[in-house]
This record gives sequence, structure tokens and C-alpha cells, in this order.
Amino acid sequence: MTVPTSEKTLVWKRAVRTVDVPAESGGTVLLDGRQFAVFHFRNPDAWYACQNQCPHKGDMVIGRGLIGDDKGEPKVACPQHKKTFSLVSGKNLGGEAYCLDTYPVKIEDGYVFIGIAEA
Ligand code: FES
Repeated sequence: MTVPTSEKTLVWKRAVRTVDVPAESGGTVLLDGRQFAVFHFRNPDAWYACQNQCPHKGDMVIGRGLIGDDKGEPKVACPQHKKTFSLVSGKNLGGEAYCLDTYPVKIEDGYVFIGIAEA
């Protein structure tokens, strides 16, 4: 039986020290066997998390992507073929159907926490 997302519990997982992800860059973390990409924007100061696997060809590279914004919306460009995705919604900004899973992030005690929905 599939549990609807609305009935899942959000579990905060400690992912990485904030000092290990410099501003205007990203990184990759492994949590419970899954790879996540974490990004730190400087202005305004903001953090984002998404799946590390690019939905285009499946390469584990999103954490090495270039970040920027699209009309104020934070985005990441995959380093492989430059497909771009919103870091808020995960939407493919090139209009293609595939997108990224994005996750809520919070900063506590010098660590980045990623919120993962679990049944
Ligand atoms: S593998 Fe990411 S754009 Fe092709």
C-alpha cells in the first residue's frame, strides 16, 4: 500500500557541516544510502537540497552543478548537458517533463539538515 505524501512524517537528517559548503557552491552527501545535493546561496543567504542524480541521463552529478537564478528563482545547471532545474520546485526550466526531487532544509548548530518524508 502506498502512503500518500501528506500522511508521511518529515524526518530531519543531519547532512553536512555548513562550513563544508562554501557560499555559491554545492556538494553531495550520502544519507541512508541515498545521494543528495546541497547548495548554499550567498545573497540572499539560502540553502537548498535536491536529489544528486540528474533525471536526464541518471548521472550522479547535480551536486557539482552551477547555481544561479532564473528571474529570481534559484536554479542549478547539471554539469553534464546543462539542463537547468528550479531548486525550489525541482521543475525542469527547459520545459522537459523530467524534474528533480527537492527537499526542505534547515540550519541548526552549524549543520545542514535535510527533511525527508518517511512513511
Ligand atoms: S545528465 Fe544531467 S543534463 Fe544530461
